Parts: sequence; structure tokens; C-alpha cells
Amino acid sequence: MIILGIETSCDETGVALYHGERGLIAHALHSQIALHAPFGGVVPELAARDHVRRLLPLVRRIMDDAAIQPRELSGIAYTAGPGLIGALLVGAALGRTLAFAWGIPALAVHHMEGHLLAPFLEPNPPEFPFLALLVSGGHTLLVDVARVGEYRVLGESLDDAVGEAFDKTAQLLGLGYPGGPALAALAEQGHTGRFHFPRPMTDRPGLDFSFSGLKTAAITTLRAAGDDFQTRADIAFAFQEAVVETLSLKCQRALRETGQRRLVVAGGVGANQRLRARITEMATQENCRVYYPRLEFCTDNGAMIALSGWLRFQAGFFEPLIIRARARWPLG
Ligand code: KG4
Ligand code: ZN
Repeated sequence: MIILGIETSCDETGVALYHGERGLIAHALHSQIALHAPFGGVVPELAARDHVRRLLPLVRRIMDDAAIQPRELSGIAYTAGPGLIGALLVGAALGRTLAFAWGIPALAVHHMEGHLLAPFLEPNPPEFPFLALLVSGGHTLLVDVARVGEYRVLGESLDDAVGEAFDKTAQLLGLGYPGGPALAALAEQGHTGRFHFPRPMTDRPGLDFSFSGLKTAAITTLRAAGDDFQTRADIAFAFQEAVVETLSLKCQRALRETGQRRLVVAGGVGANQRLRARITEMATQENCRVYYPRLEFCTDNGAMIALSGWLRFQAGFFEPLIIRARARWPLG
């Protein structure tokens, strides 16, 4: 069984081929970072138009590279949401059209399910059940995962997603888009202990998050403490520590409450090295094991969608012939 995966929910055009026995046999990604950078964030209409330009040539390229003919494909999986509706529709329309033309089934995949299952692309994947911390630009979720397709959301952000908080704070600090990796790099120059930011919602029970207050803490500190390089780096450091500590604490709480022994950390912010170090340390203390996708599969990609499609087909999920895309779509 070979599945073609298509990801176009935001600013990355990602495609991949997942082979039931050989695993990932081809993948390619076109990032739109350069296109959106002058605007300081993703421009939805430009994103959709660029997906139109890039998607079909990318599909051709991976099929040529892997020497796979359309008749060898068993199905097509495409990201159907959540995300930017125009961008999603490009992938949904192409996925559905190719599936119809080639006489094979197509399957709508939830973008966050793709992130959640990404560690299964690695050599030692987790067993079910497990707990998942999903940290991306649009979502912050703690999920109890029973098996493929069975997800219980235990906690989520009530305002900004973690990645969004990184991006907004990076913008305040005069860093470019996307801000997450730039802020993390600046934080390496920062000093411990000069500023201390709050750990939002950790002083009360529950597994929800709130990150919008941290950018306010950053701007207030920046105004009060001056605007030199070292102050910016110290703010970046304090911001990252507050985020990392909050996420680690909530994961610890969720592990204890659910009794799970395995934790998956995925999504764009899952590439953050400080977060990985802190969570690994916490999990070791809790006698739990953590699973991460490789760095390039933390951020959006087609491989995680092809893999999710394969796992879903294996689990017997099929659907009628409709083009489906949803800007909003709860994971549960
Ligand atoms: O999962 P993703 O590629 O797209 C969405 O589904 O949203 O996540 C993108 C987010 C952006 O906000 C980006 O700034 C953040 O992930 N990000 C990081 C790092 N790498 C990407 N945040 C902090 N540290 C990083 N190293
Ligand atoms: Zn994503």
C-alpha cells in the first residue's frame, strides 16, 4: 500500500509518499517564508496562490524521484483542516481530483492528527496509548490518545497558541518572521535571573493554557528596562523559560492525572531545544518516555499527512466522494 500525502494548511506546500512496508519513500517541501516575510506574517491569499503554483510540480517530482506510477498508489491523504480555508482548498481539490482521476480513495486528515502521529515516522515509535503535547502556530493541545482516531482533548490554550506567542513576542523584539526560531536563538545570548515572567495558569488546577499575557510582560519589561541588545536577549530568555516551564509543568500534571507513561511532543514549537531538554528532564523524573519527531517533521510537512492517511486506511477509515475543507475543526 502506497499513500500520497498532501499538506497545504498554511505556508508550507508539503507532499510525501508513504509505503506500507518501506515507510517514507519520498517527500518534498516548499516553504513560503520568503514570500510572507516582507509582511511580517502569513498573507492568506498569497499562501493559497502559491500552493496552486507549487503543488502539482511537487507531486510530479516525488513520484518521478521514487519511480512510482499513479496505478501503484492505494490512496491520497490531504489536510482538510484546521487552517487557512483558501490554502486548504488547494490541497483538498487536488487530492480529491487526482483520487477521482486515478480511481483510488481520498481521505481528509486533521492537521493536528498529522502532528500527533509524526513520531511514527521515526525508528522507535511510541505504543498506544500515550499523552500528546501539540504545540504549533495555531494550536496548543494536551491530548489523551487511545488509538488512531480516538483523541480526548484534556487542555488547550484559551487565547494565543504557543507558536503564536513566540511569533508575536519575537515581533516586539524586532525579530523577523517566523519568530519562534529567531527568538530561541536570541535567548541563547540572554542571562539567567535578570527578568522573571509569570507561569500562566499553573497556580490553579486544570490543564488549559494562556499565553497572551507573556507578550504583555515582554513589552512592559522592554519599555521599563531600555532597548539595548542585552535587554532584548534577556527578555527572550525570560519569555522562553516561562513558556517551557509552563508546558513542562502541565505535561507533568497530565501524566500524573492520566497515569500515561509515554509522552509525544510535536508541532512547530516541538523543535525548540530548550523545550525538549526541559520536558525530557521532567519525564525522566516521572519515569516516563518522551517521543519527538525529527526536527524537520516538527513543523508542517507532507510526510506526517501521508503517514496519518496510511494509519487511517489501515484502521478502516474511508469516506464519501466530497471535497472537504474546514477552517475550524476540533480534534476530539
Ligand atoms: O506546526 P507549525 O509548522 O505550523 C502550524 O501548524 O502552526 O508551527 C509553526 C510555529 C511557528 O509559530 C514558529 O514560530 C514555531 O512553530 N517554531 C518555533 C521553533 N520552530 C518553529 N518556536 C520556538 N522555537 C523553535 N525552534
Ligand atoms: Zn502545523
